[in-house]
Amino acid sequence: MTKEFKRIGVLTSGGDAPGMNAAIRSVVRTAISRGIEVMGIYCGYKGLIENDMKLLTERDVSNILNHGGTMLYSDRCEKFKTPEGVALGVENCRKNGIDGIITLGGDGTFRGATDLTRSGVPCIGIPCTIDNDISATDYTIGYDTAKNTVVEMVDRLRDTCESHARCNVVEVMGRHSGYIPVECGIAIGATGIAIPEIPFDKDKLINNITTLSHNGKRNFIVMVSEGMGKGYSQQLTDEIQEKTGIETRLAVLAHVQRGGSPSCTDRVTATRMGYRAVEQLLEGKYNQVMCLKEGNIHAEEVEYAFTFDRIVKGKATQEEIDALEPTLRHEMLERAASKKDHLVRLYNLAGSVSL
Ligand code: F6P
Repeated sequence: MTKEFKRIGVLTSGGDAPGMNAAIRSVVRTAISRGIEVMGIYCGYKGLIENDMKLLTERDVSNILNHGGTMLYSDRCEKFKTPEGVALGVENCRKNGIDGIITLGGDGTFRGATDLTRSGVPCIGIPCTIDNDISATDYTIGYDTAKNTVVEMVDRLRDTCESHARCNVVEVMGRHSGYIPVECGIAIGATGIAIPEIPFDKDKLINNITTLSHNGKRNFIVMVSEGMGKGYSQQLTDEIQEKTGIETRLAVLAHVQRGGSPSCTDRVTATRMGYRAVEQLLEGKYNQVMCLKEGNIHAEEVEYAFTFDRIVKGKATQEEIDALEPTLRHEMLERAASKKDHLVRLYNLAGSVSL
């Protein structure tokens, strides 16, 4: 028999992402329309441990759809990684009559959600991160807005590069994922893109810049993923200037990418995922993460998402892969190969039009 839900919680954890508010609104209103109360938990798992929460009405989530950040605030809570932290969270759920939680965030958030589910508080995760680095889903909330912000910022840089005949290296966030630099690199017409997933030919870039400059090109943009490592962008900036003789500046976009009003795509995806997340919970399907696959919203087991993520990122051991049920293993390996291939094709596309 499925559990009866009277009151659920919603929290946002880890790095914030534009669209989190749209997802909160969707969760709150979907639940209320089913006669279920929603407790807004502040500052992610920290608020759960510290009992910092309040009941939300449908009006409390009015006029947040278009706002960046998260009205529930966020935190990366170290204490929740300990058994004591989880126990405190479970105890506060019991005290506040919280029967389940919808958690919004990335990998770390879903790990916390798994611990809660195992301790008797069922959870569903909604992927919210600008990084688009949760392999089980084709899309994470915030990614589209972050890309649009990067494109807007880099278009501005290009204006001034053209006036002064300069090169601008642009370091973007995205952790170890190259999606933001590659897609934005295509959108702004980068001369080069350095990401951790694909070997970067620095000498080729420097030769290209030199040749293009001799042929009359005045502006050069080189996109660099922060995942290339600390100090890499500055080194590359210095090297380009030294070897090409072209004045080269570094712009680090950093947290600018995380703010701002969410795009239409982020608002719609957040609303769809929020709605489905509540439905999954009420149907008794716990410890799942909402995913977008081929345009459809569906739920994957968190365990599947973690294993698949490790396969895509090359972190899974051969024993782990061999231990998978054969049909599942085949499906995961094929899907992982197609994901990697997609990124490589985008990367090559960027290269073939950067003349
Ligand atoms: O995961 C989102 C993200 O913005 C990454 O792109 C970045 O590496 C990290 O968070 C920055 O974290 P913080 O906000 O803690 O500096």
